[in-house]
Amino acid sequence: MIRFSKVRSESFTGIDDNDLERGFLIMCGIFGIMTKRTDIPIAKLIREGLQRLEYRGYDSCGLAMANNGTIEVRKKAGKIADINKDGLFDSMQGQYGMGHTRWATHGPPIDKNSHPHLDCKNKVAVVHNGIIENYQQLRKELTARGHTFRSDTDTEVIPHLIEESLAKGISFKDSVREAIKYLTGAYGIVVMHADTPDFMIVARKESPLTIGIVPGETCFAASDIPAFLPLTRQALILDDDEMALLYKGKVEIFNVITGKPRTPKPFQVQWSIDAAQKSLDGVEYKWFMHKELHEVPRKIKDQLRVPQEQLDAFAKTVMAAEHVYITAAGTAFYACLAGKFQITKFGGPYIEALLCSEFRDALPTMPPKSCVIAVSQSGETADTIEAVRYAREKFGAKVCSVVNVQGSSITRYSDNVIITAAGPEMAVASQKAYCTQVTALTIVALRIAELKGTVPKADVAKYRVALEKTVDVTNEILKNEDKIKQLAETLAKKQNFYFLARGLSLAAACEGALKLKEISYNHAEAYAAGESKHGPIALIEKGFPVVFVAPPDETYDRLIGNVQEMKARGGTIISVVAEFDTKITEMSDYTIRVPIDNDKYAIAMSAVPFVFPLQIMAYFASDFNKLDPDKPRNLAKSVTVK
Ligand code: M6R
Repeated sequence: MIRFSKVRSESFTGIDDNDLERGFLIMCGIFGIMTKRTDIPIAKLIREGLQRLEYRGYDSCGLAMANNGTIEVRKKAGKIADINKDGLFDSMQGQYGMGHTRWATHGPPIDKNSHPHLDCKNKVAVVHNGIIENYQQLRKELTARGHTFRSDTDTEVIPHLIEESLAKGISFKDSVREAIKYLTGAYGIVVMHADTPDFMIVARKESPLTIGIVPGETCFAASDIPAFLPLTRQALILDDDEMALLYKGKVEIFNVITGKPRTPKPFQVQWSIDAAQKSLDGVEYKWFMHKELHEVPRKIKDQLRVPQEQLDAFAKTVMAAEHVYITAAGTAFYACLAGKFQITKFGGPYIEALLCSEFRDALPTMPPKSCVIAVSQSGETADTIEAVRYAREKFGAKVCSVVNVQGSSITRYSDNVIITAAGPEMAVASQKAYCTQVTALTIVALRIAELKGTVPKADVAKYRVALEKTVDVTNEILKNEDKIKQLAETLAKKQNFYFLARGLSLAAACEGALKLKEISYNHAEAYAAGESKHGPIALIEKGFPVVFVAPPDETYDRLIGNVQEMKARGGTIISVVAEFDTKITEMSDYTIRVPIDNDKYAIAMSAVPFVFPLQIMAYFASDFNKLDPDKPRNLAKSVTVK
């Protein structure tokens, strides 16, 4: 008999289970243990390992333990420490098990969407980190064949697919392999079977999966090394399309597609836990901020997968409104500036951007049929919440939000939500959140263009391809980050900076200046370049650094005039230009060259590629100035006071 322990049915978000959408996951922590030892508290070790992975996500969690042919699952929304306060997880019994700490990106973090997930017979348990893109189709087919689903997640199709093969008498190993062949998308999974006590199975594609080994005794499966670091320092990294059988101290690896085995060659991990948490793809970063900057390309890639129905609902609400406002604070507000520009440029409505702290004062009244787009990493910024509630409760405005934390307050006051794919951002200074916010709003802009027919369909497709290319462009920028580092070190001691740009790039200038200010403590102001001669230029003297964000778009020729004005007065010109740029390059003392294609599609998608080097520059300036970029003075990650 299997016990399926659903601990509490209501959600901590207050959202009713019936209102649920699906539950995708992008960044989560998974941890499993298969061991010979009977003298260790396995459930407690899993729980502790998961806590070391909470930097990957922490909105809900769960454990599955196999105990003499049964699987018990305990799972719940909330943080591990709170849920385990009375030993809910630590008291679980069993010979082997696994757990999951979740960061939901689509669908609220509630008990039933927490992992692990089971098949109908409660014999197979799965934890998953990633996105199964074709889950709706699979779920439809499985449901038609009599399977019952207990969650809204994409993940749950996996145990049911395995169950189908097992029912045909196929071995556990081959059933998992079969199931994987049906999946499109990204996954790192751990699978255990109640009646197969000798091994558990792991597999990966695009999502990370590491294995820890105590030879002849124990194997660990984890989405990252910190989970098992106090237990073993011998590790293996699974490659894409590989599957491994984890026995009690022995690993068998083979390729899912070819079936070809690979001899496991464990390496010795030298890192501390802290260093391991700050590591990515085997590289150890000194600060979370640096690691998170290196996550930007993959986070943009994840962001490109906004589910169509979410995107359509969002775009249609914006299109149906007669007056559209966009609001946020800080970096999120600069994402609004870029988003507003793109939506209007591609034929969407004119949008008024208002700082959330100014919102109600700027709008003592709001016209009917208004829509407010709110952008927030945390979803808990008090000023943004106030603006949203003011518009919604006083004037009946529709609210569309772009938020990184599923289930946060702003999502609860919204009619439509797009969840950004940044995952948890540990550094106080936002960077990957900004890049995903701008990407999400650009996707909305392109969808509106498509729905309204303001841009030919073929062109929308080309803009979309160019947007997808920002993944490669940001990767290239990172490969050359040493050049940005050199420049940052040259400039790090300068006391004052101007950041100037026009049009879309004004957002990048504002974000670049804010980043430098908040983590490197240099005084930096951003202006619309055309505005600079109306006052700011008075400060320019020999050596005053002026950063120009200068993509070769429709503003380029006019920007040249502004560069000349600053140069003529002795300003040191630092410009962010396209790789193929010549004119502004010749006028500049320093350039940061962005490897975009020389066509109108790539140029229109310059918002992220041209801001990213400035975020990197701020990071290196901060490090050079011996500051802590993760926890800058006087700042909090989430500002929950008005
Ligand atoms: O969580 P939110 O995106 O709503 O936060 C808004 C601002 O407080 C935030 O962007 C702040 O400006 C960051 N420190 C920027 O790096």
